[in-house]
Amino acid sequence: MAFLSVCTTETLIDAADALMGGSLVAFPTETVYGLGADAESAEAVARIYSVKGRPANHPLIVHIDSIDRMGEWASDIPTYAIALARDFWPGPMTLVVKRSTRAKDFITGGQDTVGLRVPAHPLALGLLQAFVAAGGRGIAAPSANRFGAVSPTTADAVQEELSDYMEESDLILDGGPSLVGLESTIIDCTGDAPRVLRLGAITTEMIEESTGLKVVESSAAPEIRVSGSLESHYSPKAKVLLDVIAQAGDGLIAPDQIPTPNGVIRLMAPSTIEQYARDLYRALRLADQQGIEIVVVLQPGGDGLAAAIRDRLQRAAHE
Ligand code: TXA
Ligand code: MG
Repeated sequence: MAFLSVCTTETLIDAADALMGGSLVAFPTETVYGLGADAESAEAVARIYSVKGRPANHPLIVHIDSIDRMGEWASDIPTYAIALARDFWPGPMTLVVKRSTRAKDFITGGQDTVGLRVPAHPLALGLLQAFVAAGGRGIAAPSANRFGAVSPTTADAVQEELSDYMEESDLILDGGPSLVGLESTIIDCTGDAPRVLRLGAITTEMIEESTGLKVVESSAAPEIRVSGSLESHYSPKAKVLLDVIAQAGDGLIAPDQIPTPNGVIRLMAPSTIEQYARDLYRALRLADQQGIEIVVVLQPGGDGLAAAIRDRLQRAAHE
């Protein structure tokens, strides 16, 4: 596995060729780092599952370079989904739509829908464009962590987490820390109105404003598998306790106006909700690196991004 800390146009062309050749390429996005494979290759996609240690029937998001490629992977796209794509792509949003025949069972987990996203990180877009130039059409990419663990928001975190499982021809592209820090909002666009399957930086309010429709907010319906909707997920090794008083030796994640009690190890002190989201996973990883056993987290209040943060925290805290 090669770790590329400086990514030029040539690097991206080489990475696109590696993908076309069946290798895996971990790459930065604005949400979290993804572990990419050619979405049309069953063999390459199978390697994603083995590197992640993820059950093979979980569907993967197909990353595309532009809204124009939606029609290659989807069919029967409702008008409101196009409105969402126009307003929020490139960006931290995944649309679940009826699949076309191009989206095979190994991508969709056998469902008749496919998740699509145009990421906003310049390296992700550059990689997608180079991949298209090399003859590809979409990059399947889950978050680049072992199954159930915290998503990586830096290239170092990807290396730490996955290098033991990757092969020599695989690549990790370093594009700096992810700016959003939480996984994309997932919106089911197969019904009459958008349904949020995973909360994220594109909020319910933004979706309603874009579509003019009332959003159905629900955790996944039983027939739709969203592994991020498992009760226990996004978990560090440390035990996560929510909204309790931290004791000496515990780690603490809390807004900056909360003081650090004596003997408590402050992991993060965000002053804005955006900063809270951006730095959360890095702080949880830091706890594990320092061998901290208990992390106390004071949850942010409010809706929008704060609700997405609380959603992840509750899963991280679930045993
Ligand atoms: O921000 C993100 O979405 C990141 C970056 C890399 O793009 N990706 C990501 O992928 O979080 P992953 O696989 O870790 O989480 C995607 C979730 C999974 O829980 C999967 O079950 C769900 O999306 N998903 C994918 N396709 C789906 C579909 N057709 N129907 C329902 N859920 C789907
Ligand atoms: Mg994930």
